[in-house]
Amino acid sequence: MTNGPLKLAIPKGRVLDEAVALFGKAGIDLSALKANTRRLIFELPAHQLRVLVVRDADVPTYVEYGAADVGIAGRDVLEEQGRDLYEPLDLGIGRCRLCVAEPAGARATDDEGHLRYATKFPNLTRRYLEKHGIVADVIKLYGSIELGPLTGLAHRIVDLVSSGETLRQHKLVEVDTLLEVSARLVVNRASLKLRRAPIDSLLARLRAVV
Ligand code: PRP
Repeated sequence: MTNGPLKLAIPKGRVLDEAVALFGKAGIDLSALKANTRRLIFELPAHQLRVLVVRDADVPTYVEYGAADVGIAGRDVLEEQGRDLYEPLDLGIGRCRLCVAEPAGARATDDEGHLRYATKFPNLTRRYLEKHGIVADVIKLYGSIELGPLTGLAHRIVDLVSSGETLRQHKLVEVDTLLEVSARLVVNRASLKLRRAPIDSLLARLRAVV
């Protein structure tokens, strides 16, 4: 569709609050998203926007298929999925890092054989292990990754660390960093041509405040 509102996919969760604040600075009022946390579609006719609230890992899918013209996605999710999207702007929000962690004082050695790494990011983890010549199994989980080493499921985890509080509470320590993460604005390649004017205007507003 070459007219109608621009469709923006925003991830629910931690980045949402920061995104609402950033768009607010850019003169785009998304406070309705915080007022009703069950609603998944928001029409914002004043800004010619339709906002879709989706799971963070689903944002690239919506944008690649054109169900959303633009989206906000973390570098972690983008590099894990490797989808064909235009990434014009680092928004500088949702900052964290993707780290390897293990139980404090229980150093697993790489030559023990059959090391197991639990993670939500199996592709990035496999790439990291290959790069470092570590032979290990990668176990895909969907959340609460820190439980892996505490239950014997895995020796190490590859997970996002922000304040470090979750690691501390579970007596885990960081041993390496795979990726510094922040959220980017991503754009569907066809929309970039067909919806050039509204996308350029959104980009200009956001560039002025990041
Ligand atoms: C993320 C991440 C860590 C935690 C890190 O989990 O997977 O568990 O946040 O934050 P911290 O360093 O500030 O403690 P999230 O809350 O997104 O939930 P999840 O367990 O479902 O991945």
